[in-house]
Amino acid sequence: MKIEQLKVLVTGGCGFIGSHLVDRLIEKKCEVVVLDNLSGSTVENIEDHIKSGRVKLVVGDVRDYGKVKECVKYVDIVFHFAAQADVRKSVADPRFDYEVNVQGTINILEAMRNSDVKEMVFASSGGTLYGEAKQVPTPETLPPCPISPYGAAKAACEMYLSAYHACYGISSLSLRYANIIGPRSTHGVIYDFYWKLRRNPKMLEILGDGNQSKSYMYVSDCVDASLYLAEKVAGFDVFNVSSEESLTVRNIAEIVVKELGLDGVEFRYIGGRGGWVGDVPLVLLDISKLKKTGWKPKVTIREGIRRYVRWLVEKYGNVER
Ligand SMILES: NC(=O)c1ccc[n+]([C@@H]2O[C@H](COP(=O)([O-])OP(=O)(O)OC[C@H]3O[C@@H](n4cnc5c(N)ncnc54)[C@H](O)[C@@H]3O)[C@@H](O)[C@H]2O)c1
Repeated sequence: MKIEQLKVLVTGGCGFIGSHLVDRLIEKKCEVVVLDNLSGSTVENIEDHIKSGRVKLVVGDVRDYGKVKECVKYVDIVFHFAAQADVRKSVADPRFDYEVNVQGTINILEAMRNSDVKEMVFASSGGTLYGEAKQVPTPETLPPCPISPYGAAKAACEMYLSAYHACYGISSLSLRYANIIGPRSTHGVIYDFYWKLRRNPKMLEILGDGNQSKSYMYVSDCVDASLYLAEKVAGFDVFNVSSEESLTVRNIAEIVVKELGLDGVEFRYIGGRGGWVGDVPLVLLDISKLKKTGWKPKVTIREGIRRYVRWLVEKYGNVER
């Protein structure tokens, strides 16, 4: 389906990836409704679009079926990006994670089933859904084996997407994202390092042994690939969405320290192979399926990290040397 000029619902559209997606949808002259409860973001990310009247923000919860139904009614396609997006929180409170991430998704699907909206793009997670994968690089064909409630919720949602396609003809594209980085992100390893170095520019505490190695992707590439696939794919399908690069946590620390202009920072490692319970120490997504569609990432991860660190400095200030 061509996305140009469509009416689009973006759940979680005030968040990091969702707000970048909204920017691109506005460029494509779409009419955008955002449903977000602002639990993990601020209106600031899409404020200009709201002021210009191009985005309608509905402050509400995906757990509230009445609100969801109201929003779905007006659109042609749903990008479902709202989530409890923190693995550690999911370990601490799996029931809450389930309510937001699984029941919230079923609410959207039910509202779609009871209306004429038949297309959904879903933000899944390649970094958590496969768990400690037996095949690396990991292709989409490897069965999910999550090691956190968050990963389990994403896997469960994909099963529902498959079932809703078979039973009710709702097409959905599940995008198994790598770790996405870039401006507006307020979580993840780079954000964490920046704030730790703001507090103490001489020492950086690193969770885990520093050898955890993961796939990353810059946010503009993430949104670009998502829209590209949304226009190409029909039925129910899943794609790993990532660059081909992976970096260790230690590599990332070195790049961040360098970009901040710091010298002689002591790295102190705490923990074992993973940074926390539920953390997958090795993630390398196989993106052959994505590349076969003709799409290629444009921003290298090193460059992506540098851009993101520059944004953090511009927004929150420099680290004292
Ligand atoms: N950032 C990543 O590296 C990454 C990787 C894999 C998958 N994802 C998925 O991509 C999506 C977007 O992630 P993000 O990094 O932009 O996270 P984010 O936390 O910045 O955005 C999530 C948005 O959802 C909203 N939200 C949370 N609970 C809600 C609820 N109950 N009702 C309505 N809105 C609610 C938050 O306020 C926030 O604006 C999520 O589904 C996440 O699981 C992200």
